[in-house]
Order: sequence, then structure tokens, then C-alpha cells
Amino acid sequence: MLNNRPRHILSSDQFDREFLDYLYQLVNLIRRYDKSKEGLLYLKSLLPHVRAMLYFTQPSTRTFMSFHSACNILGVSTSEIRDSATSSEKKGESIEDSLRTFSSYVDLIVMRSTEAGLCERIAALLDNTPRPVPIINAGSGPDEHPTQALLDIYTLRRSFHGNQIDGKRICMVGDLKRGRTVRSLSKLLANYRDVAITFASPEAFRIEQDLRDCLTRRGVAFTETEDFEGAIRDADAIYMTRIQDEWDTGRESAAVDHSGFCLHLEHMRRIKPDCVIMHPLPRRDEIDPLIDSDPRAKYWRQERNGMWVRVALIMILMGVDHQVMLPDKSVATS
Ligand code: NCD
Repeated sequence: MLNNRPRHILSSDQFDREFLDYLYQLVNLIRRYDKSKEGLLYLKSLLPHVRAMLYFTQPSTRTFMSFHSACNILGVSTSEIRDSATSSEKKGESIEDSLRTFSSYVDLIVMRSTEAGLCERIAALLDNTPRPVPIINAGSGPDEHPTQALLDIYTLRRSFHGNQIDGKRICMVGDLKRGRTVRSLSKLLANYRDVAITFASPEAFRIEQDLRDCLTRRGVAFTETEDFEGAIRDADAIYMTRIQDEWDTGRESAAVDHSGFCLHLEHMRRIKPDCVIMHPLPRRDEIDPLIDSDPRAKYWRQERNGMWVRVALIMILMGVDHQVMLPDKSVATS
């Protein structure tokens, strides 16, 4: 059983190895229920009394659908805001008042916004109200995307031979400056022994100093390079990302040539035969779609894993995880 049960999911900094190992086991158990109608009906019976608000004021396809589906799997009913222009924020209401309002109607708020630190602020605000509800950060500006990082860790572990992340070389590629998934995942990787990270990007998109400081403080070996081909050659996993040009102040991304940081079919002969290729998606030109059919391409699986990881996280927040940690033999088949 979990010793430190989180009240909210706000940042990768919250999670330790014990939690990551527990989540891995829990997701694997939950997935066994997906194998039968009885199993799925059991999952659906766990939280039919719970209502969740999906507050996504920044574009989202898979994270939104993934949370929506995770709620569905658990019987949680959902309401949603996908644009602040359709809420009273348009009438000048503060975001704090809007979210406090939502919290009056629901038991869980999943939120994505352009503002770094907003989830923490709202969680602290709601914790001081008579009706505190858990907050899940589904992406906060260029800062953090902890649930993506948790599903990335799950996918890495599940994809590596021996299901171990310790000792692996992970290469992260693309816009490492503004990509929140890279930030959150790097921090989670610090929980594993002897992991080495190579950050490969154009000079303009190198990681931020605070991430460098965090990795140094936590004793994680990392290097930064502009040599993409050299970086991917001996990697156990390659984590590709797109250029995050929505954060441009002018059109500065267009001035950076990132064509040397794209994975093409010819690279597949030069990387490890069991390398794990991941991408948080959406992709543009960073991965040639012809690579999709290579067994090393795990990004579509990663997407589906995300839904099960979010099912597990909602179960933990709502305190029903023990109901599958002790699986009912009549419904759980593997
Ligand atoms: C990522 C995000 O929104 O940060 N996508 C996702 O949530 N799966 C990555 C991106 O948009 O590039």
C-alpha cells in the first residue's frame, strides 16, 4: 500500500520511487480488467457517484480524451470547459473565483492552462475552503505536465527488457526549452539509479537552467549536444518532441533550423535494435510516419498507456486503488 498518498497531482517533484513502482503495479493490475466485459463493468462500478470537471483552456486532443475516457472507465461523470471565453471569466471573473465555483459542483478538477503554477495556486486556494477537491495538472504552460511524465515512465518501464529503467540511457530531442513534457519526465527520471540523459537540440532550444540545477542537485548524469546522430546511436530510449512555437513572442522558431533533429527511416539502421522510440504527440515532422510500423516505435502504445495511467491516478486520488490491488479473482484475468 502507498505510504504517501497525494491529495493533488501538481508536479513531478511530488513523486518518489515508491510511488512510481506502486503506480506501475496498479496500472498493470487495472489493465487486466480491460480483458473482459465483467472486468470493465467492475471498473465502471467503482466511482459512479463522483463528478469531475475537465477545465482545458489550452488546446488538447489526447490528454483531454484520455482523461475523459479514464473518467468514463471508472463511471465518473464529467463536465467540461474548453475555452475561458465560454465561462464567466469573459465577464471579468477571476480564474480563482471561476475554479472555486466549479469546485462547488464537482469532486475532482482536471485542468490545463497556459499559466505555469496555476494548478498549485488553485489547489492551495481550495485547500482552504470547506469543500477542497483534488486538482490534477494536465499541463501548465511551458512548465509541467506530470501525468504525461508518469505515463512516459510507465511506458519506458513496460517497454524495456526486464522492465527496469535503472542504468538506461535516455535521449531527449527537440524543443527542450519550452517542452513541458521533457521537464516533467527528466525530473521523474531522477528517481532511478544510474540513468544518463542526453539532451539533443538546436542551441536555441536547450533546457532551462532550473532543470540543469535540479538534475545536478539530484545527481543525474546528463549532457547537452547539437549532435543528434551521435546522441541517438547508443540510446536505450529516444524521446522526440515538437517545436513549441505557440510560445514564440515573434516568429523566432521559424529562424531555427531543426531539420537535423528529426528521425528518418535511415536512422533506424543506426540506433539500437531494441531502442524504445517515444513522443508525447502531437508530432509534426520530427518522426517520419514510415517509422510507425517499426516495433521500436512505442508512441501509439504510449498514448493508450496514458489512459490507464490516468485511470490509476484518479483511483488513487479517490481512494479506491485498493479495490484492484486486491483483485477479485472472478473478474481479473490476465
Ligand atoms: C504535449 C503537451 O501538451 O505538452 N502533448 C500532450 O499532452 N500529449 C506535447 C506537445 O504539445 O507538444
